[in-house]
Amino acid sequence: MTQGQGMPCPCAVEGNMRRLLLLLLAAISIGFAAAACSPAASNNQAPEPKGPSASWDDQSDPDWRYRSQFKASMRHMWIYANRIVSAGRGDKRPTYDEIWPAAADIQRRARMAASFWNAVSKATDSLQMAMDDDDRPGANEEFRAVGAACDGCHMATWSPYYLHVTPSTVEAWKNNRTKLGMEMEHDDNPPPEFPNRVLMQGLWKNYQAAQLALQDWKKPQVAAELKQMADVSRNQAQLWGQVADNAEKLVELARAQKRAGMPEAYTAMTNACRACHAAWAGPERPIHNPMPWDGPLD
Ligand code: HEC
Ligand code: HEC
Repeated sequence: MTQGQGMPCPCAVEGNMRRLLLLLLAAISIGFAAAACSPAASNNQAPEPKGPSASWDDQSDPDWRYRSQFKASMRHMWIYANRIVSAGRGDKRPTYDEIWPAAADIQRRARMAASFWNAVSKATDSLQMAMDDDDRPGANEEFRAVGAACDGCHMATWSPYYLHVTPSTVEAWKNNRTKLGMEMEHDDNPPPEFPNRVLMQGLWKNYQAAQLALQDWKKPQVAAELKQMADVSRNQAQLWGQVADNAEKLVELARAQKRAGMPEAYTAMTNACRACHAAWAGPERPIHNPMPWDGPLD
C-alpha cells in the first residue's frame, strides 16, 4: 500500500500551526477583498469579469490538489437524494425523468464504493487461504493484493495532495516533464482532517500488524488482523449495498412512472447514509445527511 501524505508524522504539529497561520492570512485577505468591493472602491476600478476566475478551470487552480473525490462523490449523492425528494413529493405528478438519472447516479456510486470494499475482503480471504495451505510465498503475494485493494479505493477517492502531488510536481507536468520518486514528494500544507480518519487509521494498524506477523509466520496473529479488516470491509460494503439496492428500486419505479413505493425505497436508502455517517463520519465536523422524504417544505 502506498503511504498517504496524511500519515501521522513528527511534522504534524508544525503542520497544524501552518494551517492556523494560513487561515489567519486567508481571513486578512478576505477582509481586503471585501474592502475593495465596497461601492467607494469600485468607482475607480474596472468591472470584475463575471464567473469564477480562469484558474478554477485548469491545473493552476491551487485548491484542486486538496479536493477529495470521496467528498465530491458524497456531495453529488446528497444533491441527487434531495432532488429525488423535490421531484417526487407534493401533489403534482412526480417528474419521473428527473428522479431516474438522479437515483441511477447514486446507484452507480454506491455500487462502486461497495466494490472497493468487497475487493478488500476478497483479498483478505485469499490471504487466509494461502496461510491455511502453509503457502508462504503465496501469502506474501496475497498480502500485496490486500494493499492494492485498499489503494484501489484510495486512487479513486484521495485528493491529489494525499497522492503526493505537490506544486512542484504540477509545475513539472505542465512543462511536459516527469518527476522521479513521486512517493517521496511532500507538501507541507495539509488539507483539513477528514471525518473518517478513525476508521482508516484502524485499518492501517491492522495492515501494519498483519505485515509484521506475516514476516514471522505468526498465523493466528495475521488471522486476527485480517478478520478485523474483513469485518469492517463487509460492514461498509453492506451499507453501500443498501444504498445501491434502494437506489435501484427508485430507478425501476421512476422508469415505470409509479410513485407508490418511492417514499419507502428512499427512506431505506437514506437510512444507510445516516447509519454510516452516525458510525463513521464523526467527530471532526457535522455531516449533512440527505433530507427525509417527509421533511419540512420551503
Ligand atoms: C471505499 C474507499 C476506501 C477503502 C476501501 C479504503 N480506504 Fe483508506 N481512505 C479512504 C479515504 C477517502 C481516505 C481519506 C483521504 C482524504 O481525505 O483525501 C482514506 C485515508 C486512509 C489513510 C490515511 C489516514 C491518515 O490518518 O491520514 C490510511 C492509512 C488508510 N486510508 C488506510 C486504508 C487501509 C489499510 C485500507 C484497506 C484495508 C483502506 N484504507 C481502504 C478511502 C478508502
Ligand atoms: C459506508 C459509509 C457511508 C455511506 C453509506 C454514505 N456516506 Fe456520506 N460520508 C461518509 C463519510 C466517511 C463522510 C466523511 C467524508 C469526508 O469528509 O472526508 C461522508 C460525508 C458525507 C457528506 C459531507 C460531504 C462534505 O464534506 O461536505 C455528505 C453530504 C454525504 N456524506 C452524503 C451521503 C449520502 C447522500 C449518502 C447516501 C445516499 C451517503 N453519504 C452515504 C460515509 C458514508
